[in-house]
Amino acid sequence: MRTLTSGDEDIRIAAEAIKAGRLVAFPTETVYGLGGDAFNVSALARIFEAKRRPRFDPLIVHIADLSALDMAADVGSLPPSLRAKVGALCRNLWPGPLTLVLPKQPSVPDLATSGLPAVAVRFPSHPAAQKLIRYATGAIAAPSANPFGYLSPTKASHVQEQLGERVDFIIDGGRAGIGVESTVLDLTEEPPRILRPGGAPCEAIEAIIGHVETGSPPAPQTAPHSPGQLASHYAPKARLFLHDANVMASLPFCPGEAYLFFDEKTCGAWRARNARNAPHVGGDERIFTLTHGADEGTADKTLEAAANLFDILHIIDNISPSAIHAQKSPDSGLGAAINDRLTRAARN
Ligand code: TXA
Ligand code: MG
Repeated sequence: MRTLTSGDEDIRIAAEAIKAGRLVAFPTETVYGLGGDAFNVSALARIFEAKRRPRFDPLIVHIADLSALDMAADVGSLPPSLRAKVGALCRNLWPGPLTLVLPKQPSVPDLATSGLPAVAVRFPSHPAAQKLIRYATGAIAAPSANPFGYLSPTKASHVQEQLGERVDFIIDGGRAGIGVESTVLDLTEEPPRILRPGGAPCEAIEAIIGHVETGSPPAPQTAPHSPGQLASHYAPKARLFLHDANVMASLPFCPGEAYLFFDEKTCGAWRARNARNAPHVGGDERIFTLTHGADEGTADKTLEAAANLFDILHIIDNISPSAIHAQKSPDSGLGAAINDRLTRAARN
């Protein structure tokens, strides 16, 4: 595996590799993706192999041009009301952290969609991702660049640690800005349904197309509609327990366990409580906060928290705690995506 920069020459090298059927990990605004040519079946098979990903979990096809949408999706086969919603979302939220599930074109290999009649399409806003897609074949299938079920990568070093030689190239574009994966929205039925909360908040989507369903149907353990819905997913190695702020603040300190607070206020309350009982709290290497500053609970705070979430979970994983206690996020903004990932991490 070779690390490349996000400079133009290096992206051209990576694009040639994709055209030749090889795999390239690349930055997006959400998390790093593991990309291969969406129309090359052996490249798709290599993605599943590299991630040890079950074949029932379909891939997102990434495009970098609105006109490329028709290569993957048959929007024209939708009823006019849904077609209008697709158009409005593309105009307002693309490029960005929103994936649309749409009727697929017959030319998209069944391996990409795991045999489903629908394909997931996303137009990322990250400039390096866009260049890579354009210089390659115009459509790159890419799951998050992590082993199946494990923490998503927000830095090139995460990909290196987790996938190593299973990837041909990594484009290092620094830290992923949003930090949680895209929102997956199913537009094959009315009303549209969020299959996975993510970087595009539900409020932003509803402001454009009106009501969308959110509560996912009960999560099945095999062949789910969208495997990001699997009950256990996005998991760190240690057992994770998820708590409301008031419970988190009153937890006793246990040496060997790690504590992940949403805000400094709750962390401060916990420290004050445990300063009496456990004077050695202060060795801060097991204590983390997703946000900094006093003004917790706003949508902006959830942006900051999402950007830090997987990075801090990777750090916690590397110190191998005996358990992780995590505080729930407020539900506004990206809070739904953060709580979704933490809830699934808590089920491993
Ligand atoms: O932000 C993201 O979406 C990142 C970056 C790399 O773009 N990608 C990502 O891919 O998170 P992945 O494979 O880790 O997650 C894709 C999710 C899975 O939950 C998958 O089940 C769902 O999208 N999905 C893909 N195709 C689908 C389809 N045809 N119907 C329903 N769900 C689909
Ligand atoms: Mg993933």
